[in-house]
Amino acid sequence: MIHTKVKELLASKDVNREVAVQGWVRTKRGNKQVGFIAVNDGSIIHSIQAVADLSKFDEELMKKITTGACVRISGTLVQSQGQGQSVEIQAKEIDVLGVADETFPLQKKGHTLEFLREIAHLRPRTNTFGAVMRMRHHMSFAIHKFFNDKGFFNLHSPIITGSDAEGAGEMFHVTTMDVSNPPKNPDGTINYKEDFFGKETNLTVSGQLEGELAAMALGLVYTFGPTFRAENSNTPRHLAEFWMIEPEMAFYDITDNMNLAEEMLKYLIQYALDHCADDLEFLNNLYDKELINRLKSVIEKPFTRLTYTDAVEILKQHNATFEFKVEWGTDLQKEHENYLVEHFKGPVILTNYPKDIKAFYMKQNDDGKTVRAMDVLFPWIGEIIGGSQREENYEKLLTRINEMKIPEKDLWWYLETRKYGTCPHAGFGLGFERLMLFVTGMTNIRDVIPFPRTPKNAEF
Ligand code: 4AD
Ligand code: MG
Repeated sequence: MIHTKVKELLASKDVNREVAVQGWVRTKRGNKQVGFIAVNDGSIIHSIQAVADLSKFDEELMKKITTGACVRISGTLVQSQGQGQSVEIQAKEIDVLGVADETFPLQKKGHTLEFLREIAHLRPRTNTFGAVMRMRHHMSFAIHKFFNDKGFFNLHSPIITGSDAEGAGEMFHVTTMDVSNPPKNPDGTINYKEDFFGKETNLTVSGQLEGELAAMALGLVYTFGPTFRAENSNTPRHLAEFWMIEPEMAFYDITDNMNLAEEMLKYLIQYALDHCADDLEFLNNLYDKELINRLKSVIEKPFTRLTYTDAVEILKQHNATFEFKVEWGTDLQKEHENYLVEHFKGPVILTNYPKDIKAFYMKQNDDGKTVRAMDVLFPWIGEIIGGSQREENYEKLLTRINEMKIPEKDLWWYLETRKYGTCPHAGFGLGFERLMLFVTGMTNIRDVIPFPRTPKNAEF
């Protein structure tokens, strides 16, 4: 069926022509003579108004036009008489494609975000989730565009993995074995040789290690895929299934890495301002009057860069105000990250963390204590990016793997890249939903992904 998107109709100057729209009724109001039907088709946050002369339409048909119903309306596009819209449709023909009775849960406006999470199958039909989902699309597209324009290649890293990149204990097992009665070895342990892949496998926590292999052949690569973490973190910033963007660059050092991260974040935020103006304005007005200002302020000035050690010196002076006291060697908590971001009035990039709180693959500094890690901390969010220069020296990497008791045999392929033509390289991971939190101003990560996966929650 030929029809025109609401977005195109609302932008059209070409009136007094026949058009058709298809979409979902947001509201119907009116009097005995005319009905005003607001139709939204998801192409834009705004709805188009159709005006129906009730003397021309069957009463039974009009009764079926209720909030939530799916309709096709054709008629003449005209300059609007009323306020709030430039054009409207004088309806000539109305078909109800799908009714929605009075049990439709989105009858009135102003549902809480908590309630909407319980109806995640319908919440995309609200203005808020329409805006968030459209912005998710634009951000995703912008990420591919950013890297493509810079000559990066998109790498499809595997989702099922036989390795544990970041440390044990937080992965989802993948198996086709009968979990109530798995095949056993003589010593009672599970015999994974009989499992689908003939070994123990998990859902990946990161595409980085595969990204490194590809960078050492293609130069500049990035992954953008789902990652899975089985940690029991019930916070507004953690998901069990989230999307991560992981660029990996041959011949980049930690400074190049920081520069790329900063450039990318600024590009993405500018892209949101340029391409999502309507949705941003809506979110700004409804949820967070500072949203657009905050986005602009992040683009304006350079991110503050300082070492972990310098940050700890600042934080220690304020230990009295923290729940978790800071000293050199401790991992920074949300409250500390917040403090730094407020102290420097904007994003902060911390580098050179103690090696004992970071992953085995990070490049070791000459001091023997720190590694060339970098975390980007954002207002509102905390850690939005984690990354590092990588240890390219075979012996140093192997020693660290053994020190940290990581099974060397699982990483033989990763180690071989350091044996054959090793090169300096660096990369980082951007949590896509953390970025979405920042650009939408939403405060719970469950509200920036269509179907959130969190502990005890995998409905839909
Ligand atoms: O700091 P992380 O764990 O780093 C890595 O996974 C590296 N392999 C990245 C790399 O160097 N290629 O995670 C990277 C980012 C975090 O900064 C955060 O934004 C996001 O991923 N993240 C999460 N987002 C939502 N829910 C979770 N449970 C997350 N865990 C990490
Ligand atoms: Mg991290």
